[in-house]
Amino acid sequence: MPLRFRTIIEPFRIKSVEPIRFSTQEERERALLAAGYNLFNLRAEDVIVDLLTDSGTGAMSAEQWAGMMRGDESYAGSRSFFRFDEVVRELTGFRHVIPTHQGRAAERILFAEALRPGDVVPNNTHFDTTRANVEHDGAEALDIVIAEGREPASEHPFKGNVDVARLEETIARVGRDRVPLVMVTVTNNSGGGQPVSLANLREVHAACERHGISLLLDACRFAENAWFIKRREPGQAHRPARDIAREMFRLADGATFSAKKDGLSNIGGFLAMNDDDLARRCRNNLILTEGFPTYGGLAGYDLEAIAQGLIEVTDEDYLQYRARSVEYLWEKVDRAGVPLVRPPGGHAVYLDAKGLLPHIPPREFPAQSLSVELYRAGGVRSVEIGSVMFGKPRPGGGEEPAAMELVRLAIPRRVYTQSHIDYVAEVVAAVADRARELRGYRIADAPAELRHFTARFEPL
Ligand code: F0G
Repeated sequence: MPLRFRTIIEPFRIKSVEPIRFSTQEERERALLAAGYNLFNLRAEDVIVDLLTDSGTGAMSAEQWAGMMRGDESYAGSRSFFRFDEVVRELTGFRHVIPTHQGRAAERILFAEALRPGDVVPNNTHFDTTRANVEHDGAEALDIVIAEGREPASEHPFKGNVDVARLEETIARVGRDRVPLVMVTVTNNSGGGQPVSLANLREVHAACERHGISLLLDACRFAENAWFIKRREPGQAHRPARDIAREMFRLADGATFSAKKDGLSNIGGFLAMNDDDLARRCRNNLILTEGFPTYGGLAGYDLEAIAQGLIEVTDEDYLQYRARSVEYLWEKVDRAGVPLVRPPGGHAVYLDAKGLLPHIPPREFPAQSLSVELYRAGGVRSVEIGSVMFGKPRPGGGEEPAAMELVRLAIPRRVYTQSHIDYVAEVVAAVADRARELRGYRIADAPAELRHFTARFEPL
């Protein structure tokens, strides 16, 4: 019998390293003041472990870098485009593949061509740029995730699932003509990186088909979603993750994709679909701002990096390591008694600031307070996903708070080692130990849309 070992190790060696500058708490205090207590305004050099996002922050493989050297920079008909197109079509099965410089460009083009003012777009949960792009075209972005998906403590294995009864009710209420498309975000980023089951996708597919409505995936983290299906959904354990991913795409009529996540690339994305007429209009729109349809705002070498990334990301040694590294941080934070979104998600650990800081009301932004403190104490940069990001002005004054007050610790792909994560867990536990001392914030200055990127705050 061969020996079996329990430790799941990184399925790679490190060939190139990037130094981290260690700042002191006094330096970080000054940096916070200059940044208006908005972590988006920090210089990345002033951060020790950067968990702001898993988007575009991953490490590329030797094969991706090699592909970049092979990139064909021809304006039209580049060889790199055809490689990209072939890989995306093998994976997704969609007829038309339109490269874009990142996910939100795909969203902007799709919605500009598919939506009219007054339309309604149901989605499990819209990501912030997706919501902003829907609203920009005068349509309503409606979140219809299952009830468990809004409860941090609920242990449902597929908390990203769409509430299909609400989908049916919405279509009946507003009328099929005002619902030009339905989106499903895999994994459900704003709801905790939680997956959508294959069974749920099949039901949403059936409902859309019955009403003749297109179903589009926001597929940024499709491979992580496929891995959760393999591990958590009855009857799926024997299937290769890539096979599950292929089925997910085949249940949809199209997808928007940010290659900065499960494309394992630093930039890029695509819009893909089967509808010939919509694709023609989207390509024309693309030419206005992104570029010719065989590069769409990307360099030929980016297309190579994405094509290779889309092959590597469904490797099961990689996916097992990826899921385990998120779960590892999740377990340490959970053991320290910090309330968090359960069960572990695919790309991040989400701390429940409402649970940890009950003395800070939502109007004083508890998740902002917690994320600032993680930076101040240990140089760890996270992101607020709460009322700063999703709060809405109430008609007649005041604000409607977000459903949850979360702090996301997003893990870049193939970047940090276990000791970096041990350090993060130690910082989180130390801040949680003195949670009572944390205070709220007020917004000193903010733009009307997507304010979390640029708002400035003052401590209360
Ligand atoms: N959809 C989802 C679910 C996302 O998470 C993102 C980006 C996008 C669309 C937009 O893609 O950034 O390439 O334009 N999420 C990043 C994050 C920014 O930090 O979660 P993009």
